[in-house]
Amino acid sequence: MLARPLAPIKLARCYPEHLFDKLRAAAARAGAVPAGAPIPSRTVLDGAPRPAEAVIDGRAVLMLGSNNYLGLSTHPEVVEAAAAALRRYGTGTTGSRVANGTLDLHTALEHQFASYFGMPQAHVFTTGYQANLAVLTALCGADDVLLLDADCHASLVDAARLSRAELVWFRHSDPANLRAKLSRLPGGPTNRLVVVEGVYSIRGDVAPLRDIVNVCREFGAYVLVDEAHAFGVFGERGLGVAEAQGVLDEIAVVVGTFSKALGAVGGFCVSDHAELAALPAVARPYMFTASGTPATMAGVSAALAVLARDRSLVERFWARVRQFRAGLAAIGYAIGEVESPIIPIFCGSENDTYALWRGLLESGVYVNIVLPPGCPADRCLLRASVSASHTEADIERGLDVFRMLVANPARAARS
Ligand SMILES: Cc1ncc(COP(=O)(O)O)c(C=O)c1O
Repeated sequence: MLARPLAPIKLARCYPEHLFDKLRAAAARAGAVPAGAPIPSRTVLDGAPRPAEAVIDGRAVLMLGSNNYLGLSTHPEVVEAAAAALRRYGTGTTGSRVANGTLDLHTALEHQFASYFGMPQAHVFTTGYQANLAVLTALCGADDVLLLDADCHASLVDAARLSRAELVWFRHSDPANLRAKLSRLPGGPTNRLVVVEGVYSIRGDVAPLRDIVNVCREFGAYVLVDEAHAFGVFGERGLGVAEAQGVLDEIAVVVGTFSKALGAVGGFCVSDHAELAALPAVARPYMFTASGTPATMAGVSAALAVLARDRSLVERFWARVRQFRAGLAAIGYAIGEVESPIIPIFCGSENDTYALWRGLLESGVYVNIVLPPGCPADRCLLRASVSASHTEADIERGLDVFRMLVANPARAARS
């Protein structure tokens, strides 16, 4: 029998209505999109039959905007491992890692990460965001100084604020500016931790880690690198940009996420510093949240095993990156200079960027759109990416649409 619908709840209006004003302003902004037109932040995927494809509004579209770089989310071994864990342990752990939420799957995955990096310490987290919150709050407090690259991901910024350390910004990927900032800090025993990313998440540029490490060595500063977008695809073993640039042994802590090349949800950190073993006892973002699901732990473990033995996925991924980049540049799009998993397509104004994004979507191609506050108002961009699961023909099909929209700007601009 169907339950009778509940009568709408009447709220008592005993307060001045200002609390929700910010949300009204945000809703008005989203409402600026013409009626019936797609709203970037509200795209709903009804399915993802393969990493190269998604279903949006019942229509198959070519997925050129996912972080599933190696296509591992649907790899048969990964799916089978996740399904087996789901059957054996159920859907969730229903508890924190420090209470009833640690399964043998969590500790096994931590050992797997430690051994893959050849470092003694590894922890896994429920999300990559929480990995950054947990590591920075465990390491830093009010007496420490955190030096952050100006383009650091929001999770690192939030983590720095939560740590209550003094926060110093340095110019994006500018070792000379980092040196200037470090040299202005008072001497003495204060800890200085420099925070950078291997691959920056909006424009996809690669950090000059070797130069940054050299500057940090001069000042006795520690380095933390977030390899979210680099893990799996940079370095001989896929350990990230620090491995690719030969400086892994000079990094105090590496953090990363399962939500890009590993095709899942969660985060990790690894370190040579034995003291990191105590992180679970001090990091609130580790303690006060439920642990990652059994299916996720088992799936990521299988994904890591595939990554360790099958380099062909990484080779295929980079071949598609090169094909797509070359095609976009030949058509005349302004793309990022660096060969990277993230391909930024610079479009200028908000209107032009939205028109191209919408034109692509309506023509069956999905990419991500970056608008203010994610970028300055006159430097909006589309953010594209490919996967090892794309075929050459998939990429050509996508390029045909980009070509058509350049040839018919009116189509892209229809709104
Ligand atoms: C550089 C960086 N760090 C951390 C994160 C957070 O990871 P997650 O989405 O897995 O929580 C992201 C996510 O986009 C990222 O790009």
